[in-house]
Amino acid sequence: MSTPDHATITIGDQSLDCPLVLGSENEVGIDISQLRAQTGAITLDPGLGNTGACKSAITYIDGEHGILRYRGIPIEEFENRANFIEVAWLLIFGHLPNGQEQAKFSELLKSNAHLHESMKHQFEGFPIDAPPMAVMSAMINSLACFHPQFLEPDDISEEAFTELAARLLSKVRTIAAYAYRHSRGRPFTYPDPKLRYCANFLHMMFSQPYDQYLIDPEIEAALNLVLILHADHEQNCSTSTVRVVGSSKANLFASCAAGVSALWGPLHGGANVAVLDMLREIHEGGMNAEHAIARAKDKSDPFRLFGFGHRVYKNYDPRAKILKKHCDRVLALCKANDPLLDIARALEETALTDSYFIDRKLFPNVDFYSGIIFRALGIPENMFTVMFSIGRMPGWIAHWKEQHDEKGRITRPRQIYTGPMKTGYTPREKRS
Ligand code: SDX
Repeated sequence: MSTPDHATITIGDQSLDCPLVLGSENEVGIDISQLRAQTGAITLDPGLGNTGACKSAITYIDGEHGILRYRGIPIEEFENRANFIEVAWLLIFGHLPNGQEQAKFSELLKSNAHLHESMKHQFEGFPIDAPPMAVMSAMINSLACFHPQFLEPDDISEEAFTELAARLLSKVRTIAAYAYRHSRGRPFTYPDPKLRYCANFLHMMFSQPYDQYLIDPEIEAALNLVLILHADHEQNCSTSTVRVVGSSKANLFASCAAGVSALWGPLHGGANVAVLDMLREIHEGGMNAEHAIARAKDKSDPFRLFGFGHRVYKNYDPRAKILKKHCDRVLALCKANDPLLDIARALEETALTDSYFIDRKLFPNVDFYSGIIFRALGIPENMFTVMFSIGRMPGWIAHWKEQHDEKGRITRPRQIYTGPMKTGYTPREKRS
């Protein structure tokens, strides 16, 4: 039987042949771009679980088989071999950097690690208990005030874009560290140009004025791996947000600041904090795994199994598999013993044999174990989602660039109106 090249939509006595679009991994999309013009009808897909917003060459996910590849490279191949910056270059520019590209990008990251001194005063304006994700979004947006040469996407050359990407990747790390230092009432630690990306972040977070934080290469390597695993994930909620904002030709800073806001939610990047809250509630509430699973299944109970389930993965999230493997190693490195890890393991074991989770294909996702690793690394819990946003920055930059380079149309979905039919204005005196 020949492969069909179109789908036919029939509405009453009207029918429309819609061309099929085939992805490089044989995914099939129905191009309905003529649907409304030809039939007056639109499609409706709350949560867009069945709707492709774009074509993209950056990341491939096979949710049924638990596959994740960055520009075709399976994420497992980066483990213990790649550094976050070369993966960032791969995602943004489409290939692993050669020696010259890596050296040039590292130089740009180094020379753009500082924030404009005036930005430091903005931190002082935040209350010390300000949510770090609010600070991140605000300060990333305010980079537009200090780097006006990058505000017109169409005026940015390839060369200037490389510098823009390096500036944002480098400064997001400084902003995160300064948000943490401000929340602890500590002086800012300036970036050290001699240190690599992750080591410099740990230095800015934890070095004291007269006491340089000693960088353990194993800890640096663990952070490097966690950031790589978070680097991109195709059209997730926050990346889609970056693309939507960028589709209006808004600058990269504004688009990524919006991405931070979308990532904050507990159903998305905020889940890594919600997982720790859940594990602690179980631990301190004397619940066992069975009791917790029973509550997670009970629709009348707001308790949810955070870190479980995924819109795309209907198999084990390959990132969670790698993170789980490294939990023991990182805890041993940090000489930490975390009872919450034992609870996480017991929860996973119980859930994966429970028909509710099996029937719904609910498996651990990236957030289930990442919080335990962040905690072992000494990252405070209110900074976990900030860490996710540092990791995801390359993906946001890559998707913003891909959409801009393709001169995509502004994103403006339609709706099905369900409000009142035409009515009139009731003067105040006649209102009941
Ligand atoms: C991330 O999209 C990405 O790629 C995101 C991400 C990335 O890298 O960018 O991978 C990062 O956001 C990971 C997800 C982190 N969020 C959580 O861990 C929060 C807990 N998970 C759920 O809220 C949920 O699974 C979502 C939000 C992740 C997915 O939601 P969907 O696809 O809308 O699925 P759904 O809510 O419609 O669930 C389908 C069924 C429902 O039961 P029924 O109505 O069929 O009876 O599964 C149940 C849900 O109640 N369900 C859960 C559950 N997740 C889904 N039940 C208990 N605990 C859960 N965690």
